[in-house]
Amino acid sequence: MSAHAPVAKRPSVSLSTLAEKKALGEPIVMVTAYDYPSAQVAETAGVDMVLVGDSAAMTVLGYPSTVPVSTDEMLMLAAAARRGLTTPFLVGDLPFGSYEASDEQAIATAQRFVKEAGCDAVKLERGGSSVDRAAAIVGAGIPVMGHVGLTPQTATALGGYRSQGRTAERAMEVVEDALALQEAGCFAIVFEAVPSQLTEMLMPQVEIPVIGIGAGPATDGQVLVFHDLLGIYDGHAARFVKRYGDIRESMVQGVEAYAADVRDRRYPEPAHGYDMAPDEVERLRGALSSGASPRGARRPA
Ligand code: KIV
Repeated sequence: MSAHAPVAKRPSVSLSTLAEKKALGEPIVMVTAYDYPSAQVAETAGVDMVLVGDSAAMTVLGYPSTVPVSTDEMLMLAAAARRGLTTPFLVGDLPFGSYEASDEQAIATAQRFVKEAGCDAVKLERGGSSVDRAAAIVGAGIPVMGHVGLTPQTATALGGYRSQGRTAERAMEVVEDALALQEAGCFAIVFEAVPSQLTEMLMPQVEIPVIGIGAGPATDGQVLVFHDLLGIYDGHAARFVKRYGDIRESMVQGVEAYAADVRDRRYPEPAHGYDMAPDEVERLRGALSSGASPRGARRPA
C-alpha cells in the first residue's frame, strides 16, 4: 500500500469508542487540525480524535497567544476541519472569553460549535468556575472535554507557560480540578505539562479518558499540535514536543525553487501551457497583421 493510499473505511469514532479504548488500554491518538487539508491529513493518518485547538491563534492566525482568538475565527477553522473529516471525533476549543461569564454564555457558545461547525464536542480550560460551565454544557446535551494543568488561556495567572503541579500542594489543585471536571460529566480530560508522577498517581481515580500533552506516558492517550509535530510552526516549541517532520523547511525550499525558476525563466515549460491549433494561429496572425480583430470587427485606430 502506498504511503498516500486512503486507509480502509473505519467506523466513526464515538464517545463509546473512546470509553472502550480506555477500558481495553488501547492508546487514544489526538492531534490538532485547523483547516480542510490538515483535517484530511489527520483523517488519512487514522487518528481517533481531532481538536480544533485555540493554539490556532498562534499556529495559523499569527497571534502572540491563545487569548485574542475570537469565537467567529474558531468557528471558521472548525467548520473547515469538519469538511475534511469523516472518522475521527471532532472537538472544538472554546476560546478565552467565550464561556467563563455565565452558564448561558457557555451553552450558547458550545451550541454554535455544534450547529455552525459540526463539532462532536467542545473543550474548555481550568477547574474552578469552569466546572460549573462544563456541567451546564453537558446538561444542554453537548459532550465536554476538560483541560487541567497548564491552561494557556490563563497562563499569565499561572506564572507563564510553565509546567504545573510540581509541589504536593499545587499537584493537589490539579487533582481537585480533574476530579471536579469528571464529576461535572466531562467525557475526557486533557492533562497539560504536569509531572509524570502526578499523572501516574491520579490515573487510578479517573474513570474517563485522559489525554496527555507533556503529562508522561501513563495517560490513556496523547495529543500534539499539528504544526509542532510536523515542524510547520517556527515559534517556541515546548519540551514535550516531538518533531516527526520538517515541513516548514520543505515548504520554504519549494517556494525558493519556484522563485528561482520564475526568475531564471525555467518556469513555465511547454508542458504547463495551452496550445492553439496551427490554423487558428494562422488566422490570429492574419487578423492581427491586418489590424482587424479576430472576430472580424476592425480594431479602433
Ligand atoms: O489548543 C490546543 O491545541 C490545545 C492542546 C494543546 C490540548 O489545547
